[in-house]
Amino acid sequence: MKKLFFVANWKSHKTEYEAKEWLEEISNFLAEQDPAPQDKFPISNNSIIVCPSFTILSKMQSYIIQNSLPIELGAQDVSPFDEGNYTGEVSAKQIKEFANYVIIGHSERRSNFSENDHILEQKVYMAQKYNLTPIFCVSRKDMVIPKGVSIVAYEPLFAVGSGNPDTPENANETAMFIKTQAHVSTVLYGGSVTSQNVASFTNMPHIDGVLVGRASLTPQDFFTIISHV
Ligand code: PGA
Repeated sequence: MKKLFFVANWKSHKTEYEAKEWLEEISNFLAEQDPAPQDKFPISNNSIIVCPSFTILSKMQSYIIQNSLPIELGAQDVSPFDEGNYTGEVSAKQIKEFANYVIIGHSERRSNFSENDHILEQKVYMAQKYNLTPIFCVSRKDMVIPKGVSIVAYEPLFAVGSGNPDTPENANETAMFIKTQAHVSTVLYGGSVTSQNVASFTNMPHIDGVLVGRASLTPQDFFTIISHV
């Protein structure tokens, strides 16, 4: 069975308290499913990556470690600059204290913050400098993917936050194209993924997981998504 990535993109949702509640519920679901989830739960073969706001990365990391949850953390963005005099920015070196992954080039950042190919390339460079794995988002198969990116998320604009996902067939074809053209090993699908449709994407041969926005906010929905296999 191929290894799957389940990435939760919480966007600007959840306070510290709400995040703790979410982790507690996920932790309860895991305990109910199997007394020793790490040994048997299918996620032991897969990667669960939660990407909250910077403000709660530290608290989430502590909770995950204390409770030995099989969850890794990612940030939703990274500064294109190294540490230094860049007011308001969060550098890759700072993120690396708490997370192993970072989402770069999400369509909401490209459109709301005018992030262009040059800036995104710098962000990827910084992530790699500090050993953060970029999850690089593209909304079309012909978009620029910086060198060395190992995980790409294909998220068509019409599907993000709309309730209208791409077809699994088209997503699979796009994933195959990206793997061949950009020499990327792992391609995820994102855009209106739900507990009902997740399997139709992950069953496709070239799709290695999903990037989930809205459906990741509810512990029950996200747990159904990660345990569907
Ligand atoms: P959605 O968001 O699942 O709510 O469509 C996906 C994303 O923006 O990454």
